[in-house]
Amino acid sequence: MPVKFTIKITSPEKPETGLLVLSVFVDTLLPPACQAVNEAAQDKLSGFISSNELDEKAGSTLLLHGLAGVAAERVLLVSLGKSGSFGDRAWRNALTAVGRAFADTRAKDGAIVLEEATLPPGRDLTWALRQASRIIADCAYRFNAPSVKSESVKRGAHEIAFLLSSEPSQPQKEAIRHGQAIAEGMALTKDLANLGANVCTPGKLAETALALGKQFKFDVDVLERGGMEKLGMGALLSVARGSNQEPQFIIMQYRGSSPGKSRKPSKNKGSGSRPIVLVGKGITFDSGGISLKPGAEMDEMKYDMCGAASVIGVFKAIALMRLPVDVVGLVPAAENMPSGNASRPGDVVRSMSGQTIEILNTDAEGRLVLCDALTYAERFDPDCVIDIATLTGACIVALGKIPSGLLSTDNALAVELAQSGLDSGDRVWRLPLWEEYQELLKSNFADMANIGGRFGGAITGAAFLSRFAEAYKWAHLDIAGTAWLSGEAKGATGRPLPLLGEFLINRARVRKH
Ligand code: BES
Ligand code: MN
Ligand code: ZN
Repeated sequence: MPVKFTIKITSPEKPETGLLVLSVFVDTLLPPACQAVNEAAQDKLSGFISSNELDEKAGSTLLLHGLAGVAAERVLLVSLGKSGSFGDRAWRNALTAVGRAFADTRAKDGAIVLEEATLPPGRDLTWALRQASRIIADCAYRFNAPSVKSESVKRGAHEIAFLLSSEPSQPQKEAIRHGQAIAEGMALTKDLANLGANVCTPGKLAETALALGKQFKFDVDVLERGGMEKLGMGALLSVARGSNQEPQFIIMQYRGSSPGKSRKPSKNKGSGSRPIVLVGKGITFDSGGISLKPGAEMDEMKYDMCGAASVIGVFKAIALMRLPVDVVGLVPAAENMPSGNASRPGDVVRSMSGQTIEILNTDAEGRLVLCDALTYAERFDPDCVIDIATLTGACIVALGKIPSGLLSTDNALAVELAQSGLDSGDRVWRLPLWEEYQELLKSNFADMANIGGRFGGAITGAAFLSRFAEAYKWAHLDIAGTAWLSGEAKGATGRPLPLLGEFLINRARVRKH
């Protein structure tokens, strides 16, 4: 059950709620809304802060029960840190702590004060409402596994009020709806990604997309092996050869700019507005194929469809938001397995573009499924194409697990995506894609090899893709390090939905004017 958000215009000591959240700096006067509570509570709040009960670190919390003069059952003070070092990061850490508190509490409902005085420099209430609703709703996510104990499922506030000092504007109300929609898209992305590869097969991805299209009334088409053969998708098909799972090529079309107007899914060059095309790598399990991966942590290769899951999740989010944009989603889905029928190192295959590829390593399969999808994208006459892929371990070596890798042949698009990353906290870092890297893909037996040697693996992976993306503006997001967490906290993160949501909301805003 998704969290329900409401807006209340009231002084924070008044609402009868299970858990009232107040954000404070540890080194300055209480912000205006807290002062009202402090007065009602006979200076208790300022007392706690001056006696250092609340840690300095942004996101530290102090839970108070039965505060006199305050109608709420519990009050949670959350630290924004010191005012001098306050910014987006501290605010986001505080909000994440709030989200966790709302998700864990025994209170049935909650309320949080949002006021200008506690927003990061340069940020407004619309931004804060969108981020806060997304973060809080996302913190309430639970994977619906048979092993999850019912106790933790029962917990958490179901209804949360944003306490504002004046009537919200239309964009402010919309911001809450948008943040929540993105969180619901993230939940779908995580649900798909967290499933085992025996359940989340290419067929399951196709079924999920078809069901979503039916629910939200957008077009979904699925090509099976025969359809892909007709199109000459030899690179994609070469990856699927070793698996007993049938490959699927999923085409989703959301038309928000002119709702109701249906266009045929193919051959629509020149008619209507130019869509944004999102392409998601959908390898439901990446064993490496004949170039088999080592055993350690191989289970995590069930997450090799996180690009696909995020494209499907984005479609849920934009449909919920009813965003006035046109978006096409393409998911080449297959399983990479070794078998007597699998592709071998040394095999040469022909891609849909006509370019031939020597497969030197069957574990570099992501680029093989993506290249045919990138060629297919041309028929939509796209405004731009963004692919999202758990493409390379090398990207994790280069950047760690903080940002996703961004590689692009279009500077304006790269800058736009990087800004959406900063605005949403779902950051990317750009790597170069200079011509010189192309030389590393030379092959004696085909137009190119599918690997580029030991160095710069995230870049040579993208360099390979760029050869299939020359007809339009293109960016590539390598989410190998950001799509899931390992170890004790193992699970999908739902990234890069916050980034893509922000990007598409901005595009919709630009269109309206
Ligand atoms: N899916 C992997 C990339 C990956 C590995 C993502 C580990 C997250 C964690 C991809 O298909 C792959 O195997 N890439 C190879 C490419 C190499 C053979 C050129 C890699 O990164 O080692
Ligand atoms: Mn691989
Ligand atoms: Zn892979």
